Amino acid sequence: MNQLFARKPIAELHAEDGTSGLRRVLGAGDLVMLAIGAVIGAGIFGAIGTAAAGQVGPDGVVIRYGAGPALIFSFALLAGACALAALCYAELAAMIPQAGSAYAYSYATLGELVAWIIGWDLILEYAVGNVAVAISWGDYFTTLLSGIGLDLPAWLTTGYRTAGLSASPAMRALLDEAPSIFGVPILVNLPACGIVLVVTWLLLRGARESSRANQVMVVVKLVALALFVGVGLANIDPGNYTPFAPNGFTGVHQGAAIVFFAYIGFDAVSTAAEETRNPQRNLPIGILGGLAVCTLIYIIVGAVLTGMVPYGELAVADPLARALELVGYSRVGWLVALGAAVSMAAVLLVFQYGQPRIFFSMARDGLLPAWAARVDRRTGVPHVTTLLTGVLVAAAALVGDAAETYDLTNIGTLFAFAIVCAGVAVLRVTEPDRPRPFRVPFVWVVAPLGMAACGFVMLGLPAQAWSRFGLWLAIGLALYVAYGYRHSRLRSR
Ligand code: ALA
Repeated sequence: MNQLFARKPIAELHAEDGTSGLRRVLGAGDLVMLAIGAVIGAGIFGAIGTAAAGQVGPDGVVIRYGAGPALIFSFALLAGACALAALCYAELAAMIPQAGSAYAYSYATLGELVAWIIGWDLILEYAVGNVAVAISWGDYFTTLLSGIGLDLPAWLTTGYRTAGLSASPAMRALLDEAPSIFGVPILVNLPACGIVLVVTWLLLRGARESSRANQVMVVVKLVALALFVGVGLANIDPGNYTPFAPNGFTGVHQGAAIVFFAYIGFDAVSTAAEETRNPQRNLPIGILGGLAVCTLIYIIVGAVLTGMVPYGELAVADPLARALELVGYSRVGWLVALGAAVSMAAVLLVFQYGQPRIFFSMARDGLLPAWAARVDRRTGVPHVTTLLTGVLVAAAALVGDAAETYDLTNIGTLFAFAIVCAGVAVLRVTEPDRPRPFRVPFVWVVAPLGMAACGFVMLGLPAQAWSRFGLWLAIGLALYVAYGYRHSRLRSR
């Protein structure tokens, strides 16, 4: 039992520094940009619509209630929960600057079993999250193409799951209308799959190059949102703010649980820890700075969007473009859709960057096979895991559904955030004297409150998300017993 909770000494984590082959090329500015690159994407351009309007299943049953214009309260609630978690991330990231992020922190604080669970859980945040982003990217891409008169056949832009789960009769009809092989309808999302493969190719070229590409994309996404807010502000109808909270607190809570997706990513900065110069100073700036900028932008966008059109109109895949279209600005809508597509490509980039580095850390510890820790000598990139992640995410994006994936990603990420908050508290007790370049203020309030806030947001997710999450963890535990338990470097010593 003790072995299962063996903790990896922090000194050893530091000793791994510089021996990994990863290169320290990123500064504080790069990290803030990386955070904005990771955070602003499918959540604000896609999931925000479902959060405001709610969601109904194919059988007409309400899956979740929408927040309506009270969406800004959902954003504020999430900002609070994420700020608490971000503070805890900053303390651990500065103290344990490792590519494995929450996985490495839990190895040092809560022991191997918890570390494995978190590493496995982070797949939900990074790889599964990217499936949702890729699908949302595909939706905006299709809108862009039809804006210039190019209409791809629906069976090439709609995943099988999306058609099967939709309440819309037109979508469900695709199940019968699509070409089929041996009775199985061919419903694939080619754009979603294609963008993942392009991003993977870019990442294989190296971290420095990827960071540059990210910076350009960040500028584009800020311009797109500024354009949306500028035009939107001039087209607000105060009547749309009534009723303000159509589903009361339930709507705010359930809306928050899905639009939490919009906040995910500030923590992804921590996976760049081994490629950051002066990580003790730069990581906290990157994590907290990125979160602050994004929160401000979200509250403004949420207030403008729900003021432009009745919230019920927002239950679409591209709500920002749709709102602009409804107030008579289709051309601006097209431009914002272009910005959205670029934004989401940036999110894909950062998450496809993070996932292989977590696999890399786990393989370095022996919890995954050694081949997963290979780093390309010339580019300094963990190329095996980068390629593997790319192929898996691309395949899932080809047939998957976005809403279903948002829920799974959110529950997994919130769980990881809660564990990080717990880790900070545990380490304050077990290693009180270890130097902490960044200290969480009022830790005995912040850490427990952070755990409680994440747990509370999780409770807003549908029951199905919980059962799938349980299943995912059970599979992870089985794999640990079958492989990691036997091969762990720490335990084999
Ligand atoms: N926060 C990221 C997004 O919204 C994951 O796309």
